Amino acid sequence: MMTRQKFVDNLLQRTKGAAGTRGEAFAPANIALCKYWGKRNEELNLPVNSSLSVSLGKLGTRTIVKFAKNADRIYLNGKPAPEYFASRTSAYLDLFRPEGVFFEVRTKNNIPTGAGLASSASGFAALVKALDQLFDWRFNPRELSMLARLGSGSATRSLYGGFAVWHAGQRADGMDSYAECVYEDLKDKKIPAQPSCKVWKNLCVGILEVSKARKPVGSTDGMNRTRETSELYNSWPHQAACDYDELRTAIAAEDFPMLGKTAENNALAMHSTMMAAWPPLCYWKPQTVSLMNKVWKAREDGLELFFTIDAGPNLKLLFLKKNQAAVKKLFPKVQIVSPF
Ligand code: DP6
Repeated sequence: MMTRQKFVDNLLQRTKGAAGTRGEAFAPANIALCKYWGKRNEELNLPVNSSLSVSLGKLGTRTIVKFAKNADRIYLNGKPAPEYFASRTSAYLDLFRPEGVFFEVRTKNNIPTGAGLASSASGFAALVKALDQLFDWRFNPRELSMLARLGSGSATRSLYGGFAVWHAGQRADGMDSYAECVYEDLKDKKIPAQPSCKVWKNLCVGILEVSKARKPVGSTDGMNRTRETSELYNSWPHQAACDYDELRTAIAAEDFPMLGKTAENNALAMHSTMMAAWPPLCYWKPQTVSLMNKVWKAREDGLELFFTIDAGPNLKLLFLKKNQAAVKKLFPKVQIVSPF
């Protein structure tokens, strides 16, 4: 069986550089428009389905890595990191740790940590980029995305700005489960695309924060529970595959209503599979539902506005720049982000 350590060692065999003294990198957060929900191999973090995301532009994680004496020192937002964060980071660093070596990691998020705003995604992507510098591996983004995958599945897509796809892959050794920019994927598949698949300037994401609290059930446990106990999960791989194709088509054609509808429907389908799990899993708060209703009402009234929700209570709105003022009026607290 391929272990994650063997996977890393195989990749590291290709590197030639000599370690420096410091690595520093930024990676953007991403929100999935077609969600990753379910692992086909937990050891290598291989997903059941391919997923597709859009980045959050300047919102994400900046990380500095250096060598340290005696023990790992992990800082989050300027303070010693909480235990859950430090131990997850150290366990990940173990994969790359030469004998007797410790690390100092200073990581800063400009998004709330652990509130379903995908900070583990930007966190592991920034860390792996910083390690690439520190060790002078010179991996390409695909290779880095596979290493980030071992930290957190969604981190695979945070190596890129804009739209990214994470190919589920089929191989047991995980070497075909990497992320790339959507436009590379469209080019490979010979799908004609608008230039906006690189930079869709009018597209806006709005963050509606319901809670900053850490989620009670982490994504890994949540997706495992869903996969094992939810009858509705049986239909998920098919829906995800259709939505993935639909989203690529929508991006290629710059078709916003198609993009918004597919993303919203995909999110609701994912949350439905969780609610049908046992014990039931619901990441929503009452305010999440009232905000959803507000979006539906606005749409009935003619506003092109959609939402998506990850494994948390917060909404991310999708809309076009021309509707920015209308969205602000409806949701005065919205934080508007340009994904590109
Ligand atoms: C709902 O990437 O956090 O945000 O691989 O177990 O660390 P692990 O899970 P994680 O799951 C993200 C789930 C999601 C959907 C998505 O981002 O695709």
